[in-house]
Amino acid sequence: MRTMAAGGAVCGAAKALCELRGKYMEEEKQMKEIIFGYPPETRHSLAIMQDIQRQYNYVPREALEMISGHLSIPLSKLYGMATFYKALSLKPKGKYVIKICDGTACHIRSSLVILNELEKLLDIGPGDVTPDGLFSLETVNCVGACALAPVMVINGEYYGKLTPQDTRDIIEKYKGGEHDE
Ligand code: FES
Repeated sequence: MRTMAAGGAVCGAAKALCELRGKYMEEEKQMKEIIFGYPPETRHSLAIMQDIQRQYNYVPREALEMISGHLSIPLSKLYGMATFYKALSLKPKGKYVIKICDGTACHIRSSLVILNELEKLLDIGPGDVTPDGLFSLETVNCVGACALAPVMVINGEYYGKLTPQDTRDIIEKYKGGEHDE
């Protein structure tokens, strides 16, 4: 049986490989649409990278290469920008980015217990992404809500005065799709 993969590739025997190729082609097409949708002027470099970040949750190397070619900017300069701006990431992130605060107030109120709970629940450590791409975990310094310590932030949503049980309940809700748009 032959099926049509994303990107228009016709899949035969090696279906999984073919579908993967189709997905890659589709992503490459989307990436080109974002990048070449901007005029080739260097002042658009940051806006393009922000759009790419929004679409993929990180800025892949292929995108940086395309931007470099389109805007005639050295790749090294784009890397510099991508590492300078906190809103951009060169590493893939999960659909939900969990930031656990380990500033002084949170640390005193056992933020590490919450971090351990998250590590157990998700089976990843800080800086990692779950294999299904749903969550990534980061530790950060004070997020400005010390009165609510210990605090975690998921895609901009604050959760305070956390206990391990709260943490389990919150993660379950995200897994169950309650926060999908
Ligand atoms: S130390 Fe965690 S919110 Fe301030």
